[in-house]
Amino acid sequence: QILIIDFGSQFTQLIARRVRELNVYCEIHPYNNLPSISPDVKGVILSGSPCSVRDSDAPNVHLAAFRHKLPLLGVCYGAQLLAQSSGGEVQPSSIREYGRARLGTVDTASELMKGFDQHSQVWMSHGDTITQIPDHFDVIASTETVRVAAFQVRGEQTYGIQFHPEVTHSLQGKQLLHNFVVDICGCSQNWTADSFVDTTVADLKAKLGDDKVVLGLSGGVDSSVAAMLIHRAIGPNLYCIFVDNGLLRKDEFQSVLDSYKTLGLNVKGVDAQEQFYSALTGLTDPEAKRKAIGKTFIDVFDQESHRIEDVSWLGQGTIYPDVIESVSVKGPSATIKSHHNVGGLPDFMKLKVVEPLNTLFKDEVRAVGRSMGLPEFILGRHPFPGPGLAIRILGDITPEKVAILQEVDALFINGLKREGLYDQVWQAGAMLLPIQSVGVMGDERTYERVVALRAVTSVDGMTADWAHLPYSFLADISNEIINKVKGVNRVVYDISSKPPATIEWE
Ligand code: XMP
Repeated sequence: QILIIDFGSQFTQLIARRVRELNVYCEIHPYNNLPSISPDVKGVILSGSPCSVRDSDAPNVHLAAFRHKLPLLGVCYGAQLLAQSSGGEVQPSSIREYGRARLGTVDTASELMKGFDQHSQVWMSHGDTITQIPDHFDVIASTETVRVAAFQVRGEQTYGIQFHPEVTHSLQGKQLLHNFVVDICGCSQNWTADSFVDTTVADLKAKLGDDKVVLGLSGGVDSSVAAMLIHRAIGPNLYCIFVDNGLLRKDEFQSVLDSYKTLGLNVKGVDAQEQFYSALTGLTDPEAKRKAIGKTFIDVFDQESHRIEDVSWLGQGTIYPDVIESVSVKGPSATIKSHHNVGGLPDFMKLKVVEPLNTLFKDEVRAVGRSMGLPEFILGRHPFPGPGLAIRILGDITPEKVAILQEVDALFINGLKREGLYDQVWQAGAMLLPIQSVGVMGDERTYERVVALRAVTSVDGMTADWAHLPYSFLADISNEIINKVKGVNRVVYDISSKPPATIEWE
């Protein structure tokens, strides 16, 4: 595997993703909390950073722990750290370089730059630059403005690059990472979804033995794939609980429950709709609604898990980005979920935790699910918020409003699927607005509800653009909704990007 040392760059996760795309396993660890180096580690990558190596409190690591022992690649800040710590010089650039640049000269005899085109496009993002390198460093690539765009240390497998190979705008970035990870470090490219399933199931068998595990299914990809892995390891000793909070999409509870059963999971469907509606009565503030839903879920789950005798583990679908966040350079305080901070934890929180996906990125979770035969309708579905339709009904929640929104949402989503648009958008749904507007149907004046349709394109939900759906589709869907859903006489389409708007309206 490859060890990636994180100095806080926004791109560190991308380095890991690119290495994994080469079918090589890697882990990110923050520079200030490094594990002891396992014999499986075949090479080390030092990430970029928002800091400057010239700062007195610049993040640093004890390089001697791996230098000369393992191949080493410094990216941006990592490269500057290598240069400076060997006697080179780093200074603020006279021309700050952000964005695309072209390599001028490349030494393709260097193993790192093998296969590079002479004027390959790279992506730069730095305010400092390496102005002087020690005598035993060789420059292996330059741009017009950056002489030391890449270097190699003579007699060592130590390299530094000023540009970011992990960003797709560095057109041969993947080639460079391949050169480093496969050819220089000698990693085998055998980390695949199938191999992950085999080793994880074997590990889970050894870890869990005859113990019982309880797991809450949400209908989403992560909890479903986590359940399938644990189920493959311990069979009926995995007890799954799938709660109907009355805030899911139309007919979703039953169809998802049926498919879980078809997959052979030992799953109990719990109808808790009334409990959720009653906890939500009169609440209008979005955060108050979220808290009420979270608390009710914990109550229901706690009660259900008590029915299972001698359960000792809680299974969770935590994925790698959540783990990286919670141990990030920036510290865990901002990201710890609120219920971890309160006293009097429910009993199920005292169980030992098993998280088989906590080393995987989202697309890897999908690949694992696919390799285990999870149906496409679960694998390929859009993200859906935990509080469900409650945060898409602005204002207070009533079963009547939920029923209206479920109808609207179903027509919209089915329309997207019918027209082959569903997979082109990242997330879509409908919002029920807390206003009524005048309309006319036949000879009658109407005074009914307004719904807003929202569809966005995005990579990770952090930023998003409104989906430019065809006008003809929007026209048809608007007609269909107003004709078929009683109580709605107006449809609007949300054309706000994130930021400054958010995807959800609450
Ligand atoms: P926003 O609205 O912040 O949403 O742009 C980004 C993504 O997060 C989802 N989301 C939630 N998911 N609990 C969840 O599990 C929540 O309270 C919640 N709020 C927003 C949203 O659906 C989108 O995918």
